[in-house]
Amino acid sequence: MMKAQVYTVAKIFEGEIKEADLKLEEEELPPVQDDEYLVEAMYLSVDPYMRAYAKNYTVGQVMIGIQAGKIVESKNKNFPVGEIVVGNLGWRTYTLVKPSDDYFIYILPDVGNLPKSIALGVLGAPGMAAYFGFLDICRPIEGDTVVVSAAGGAVGSHVGQIAKIKKCRVIGITGSEEKARWLEFLGFDYVINYKTTKDLAADLRKGAPKGIDCYFDNVGGDTSSTVMQLMNQGGRVSVCGAISSYNAKVPLRANVIQPDIVAKQLELKGFVSHQFRDRWMEGLNQNLRWVQENKLKYRETITDGFENATRALMGVLKGENIGKALVRVKASHVEHESVDFNNALSKFKKFQGHR
Ligand SMILES: NC(=O)c1ccc[n+]([C@@H]2O[C@H](COP(=O)([O-])OP(=O)(O)OC[C@H]3O[C@@H](n4cnc5c(N)ncnc54)[C@H](OP(=O)(O)O)[C@@H]3O)[C@@H](O)[C@H]2O)c1
Repeated sequence: MMKAQVYTVAKIFEGEIKEADLKLEEEELPPVQDDEYLVEAMYLSVDPYMRAYAKNYTVGQVMIGIQAGKIVESKNKNFPVGEIVVGNLGWRTYTLVKPSDDYFIYILPDVGNLPKSIALGVLGAPGMAAYFGFLDICRPIEGDTVVVSAAGGAVGSHVGQIAKIKKCRVIGITGSEEKARWLEFLGFDYVINYKTTKDLAADLRKGAPKGIDCYFDNVGGDTSSTVMQLMNQGGRVSVCGAISSYNAKVPLRANVIQPDIVAKQLELKGFVSHQFRDRWMEGLNQNLRWVQENKLKYRETITDGFENATRALMGVLKGENIGKALVRVKASHVEHESVDFNNALSKFKKFQGHR
């Protein structure tokens, strides 16, 4: 009998997530039957939405989440042993997948020498949020000025690089000097540290002398109100997330922006990456091509050990990750050494951001 480790919700999150909010349990899985297959988790995706969706959780349910795993047993010819699959299987070490299950699951296309972990980052939901959420909603035009918040994270760093591919001027808003230096390295034209700036609007005016045409909003709240008040006529805003509010126990208040939306006829649209499921492979293949062409760089913050997953999630809400936050379920799944960005950065010309 196969045993799986599973995280269940022990307490509905309130304010900051605590380790005791999730419980590590063991579950026995029955033998694989016809048309079923068994997936061994390699990487868990650690995402801010896990905090945002907490109001929908019930105590005892398996913790939601997307993972990349290997098929280790199969009686389903479409999902043979050895393939890497990506799916919303939740936080569990092994999953028995049945044909009747309602998972969004697919085999990862060949990524060559790249680590499979990118299935959850540039090639996963954050990558789709960046690709579809930016291109379809912001509709960038060459020469546009684009602002991205939570720019040092998985989605934000990706959006900024697509904006550079589209020949835009890109301003990133982020919460640490290390992230700021990385964004400069990626080609962002101007970076603002929202935690240390004395005047965000003044910094934005400096970075965007021609005003802002596109805003990719990952954070909501007052940062976003400030950005939107500086937008140009007909500006486009893609509302991807509102992480500044996820831990709030009482609803946050922010400056009123409706007068600017009306006067400048701004377009605001929210989205979820999964609404683009029917075009998923278009986004995945384009993002993969950009990575292979070295036009799209990515960075991962990997926490080792299934038993450390809750701490990894707590860290994302505190800004501890740079790029995509992941849990490597077992040390034996090490596929690659982390890229030495500090070394790469030391070779990079002197940082000239204004923060
Ligand atoms: N719509 C969709 O389909 C979709 C898909 C994926 C993600 N999202 C959303 O996109 C946003 C970014 O997600 P991600 O996966 O790329 O995560 P991420 O940016 O890699 O990690 C979250 C980052 O948000 C920043 N942050 C945390 N608390 C903050 C606060 N109070 N105010 C401002 N920034 C804060 C932190 O960086 P700093 O150091 O900069 O503070 C943290 O590292 C989130 O809002 C998420 O919910 C939406």
